Amino acid sequence: MLDTLGIALIGCGTVGGGVAEILLRHGDRLASRAGRPLALRRIVVRDPSKVRDPIIPKELISTDHAAAIHDPSVHVVVELIGGTTTAKKVVLDALSAGKHVVTANKALLADAGHEIFEAARKAQRAVCFEAAVAGGVPIIRALGESLAANQVTAIQGILNGTSNFILTAMAEQGMTYAAALAEAQKLGYAEADPTLDVDGSDAAHKLAVLAQIAFGVAARPHEIQRNGIDTLDAMDIRFADELGYTIKLLAEAWTGEVEGERGRQGEGESKSGRRVALHVAPVLLRHTDLLAQVRGAYNAILVHGDIVGETLYQGPGAGRGPTASSVVADLIDIAVGRAQCTFAAAQLWSKANKGFEIEPAERVRSRFYLRLLVADKPGVLADVTRILADEQISISSMVQHEAAESGGSPVPLVIVTHYAETGRFKAALAKINRLASAAAPAVFFSMGD
Ligand code: NAP
Ligand code: HSE
Repeated sequence: MLDTLGIALIGCGTVGGGVAEILLRHGDRLASRAGRPLALRRIVVRDPSKVRDPIIPKELISTDHAAAIHDPSVHVVVELIGGTTTAKKVVLDALSAGKHVVTANKALLADAGHEIFEAARKAQRAVCFEAAVAGGVPIIRALGESLAANQVTAIQGILNGTSNFILTAMAEQGMTYAAALAEAQKLGYAEADPTLDVDGSDAAHKLAVLAQIAFGVAARPHEIQRNGIDTLDAMDIRFADELGYTIKLLAEAWTGEVEGERGRQGEGESKSGRRVALHVAPVLLRHTDLLAQVRGAYNAILVHGDIVGETLYQGPGAGRGPTASSVVADLIDIAVGRAQCTFAAAQLWSKANKGFEIEPAERVRSRFYLRLLVADKPGVLADVTRILADEQISISSMVQHEAAESGGSPVPLVIVTHYAETGRFKAALAKINRLASAAAPAVFFSMGD
């Protein structure tokens, strides 16, 4: 058997605690899969006085990053503290000390991928990150290895477990947004700052990572247009249901090669084919759609490849066990030596990698759900339909419930459009919002069919 692989765990919270538990409880299983023992040598935390799982040996715990990184018996540093400041320093220090790195930190990869991966190539060490996207779902390996013969043409994913948990609880149990978020936090799904989950940032970070693998695009987080579920009104969940749809937070990547009408790039200046539009937003999916049926903290990703067609990956997208399972799989890959080969071949975040360019999401075509709060008086509907017609947007259906003696108070009006280019739809939206009869800014979502 080969020498023991020594591991330092930097961060021992939800995910780190799960990794420690697997390493300590399943040593024999891991050694037989890796062909060598995996030994947890050091654990670094912020507060060593915190009460932790009794399985974690107290003598391994410290607050000393440098001592853990430079310990000669440590070969891999596992960064599980989150954030982009200390975490970045830990990762770069570990690489320059000649250690391999495993991380679940999608914010860090999206923010500093170039720097980290250049440092890794220089140090001839691997950076593994299966746990950074979709928790326990092996999407990084699927995209980077199993689908390597394909050019991916589109990705549609539920990539944030917390948001999906909240949407499911609101739609199925009528839970309030605040109560559902508190429950997601209690279950260990949410980020330390849950704003990242609910405003679409976490899904955007994960989309940036997937886009790097699938399209060689180095999208900075601010280049991915995003809307989250933090401003979602329960009224829209009810209207969507009435129309036969479920609202899901989707992260989507569309190239010019998509098969259906949705996601197709609109008319206008034709650019080179190697362009991809990236965005994160709530989308209305038909109840029967595969992604509509993904519930709770589960994630799912549809990947369209030019040779394979459509493939679907699904599983628990957040939480201790699923995420730790992916981290430990990376450790086994390093122990076997597989990760070092695939890492060197992948050329991720490399300047040598001439990837796709980013297409503005404005050119992507979709149908739209538009919900207005308007004064209940003659001419309002005519004003709205005229504005849509001026932008060449035709209406597919409309819902307005009979107002119960509204006494002039605004009423919701829901319009579903036929396919339109996002930019034109937004131009119409801006005009509708300027109508004197508009009592509140219009709410809109893309439709998934
Ligand atoms: P967490 O429960 O908040 O744990 C963070 C850990 O890092 C804690 O042990 C904390 O120490 C330690 N820590 C914080 N700052 C530190 C510092 N400056 N030096 C040393 N240790 C420090 O976070 P988590 O949920 O495990 O998430 C960790 C990472 O995994 C994040 O990047 C997150 O995005 C990612 N991730 C999480 C999930 C999930 O479901 N939770 C899934 C996929 C990816 P104390 O214990 O002393 O406070
Ligand atoms: N906070 C993240 C989520 C954890 O809810 O999806 C998994 O990356």
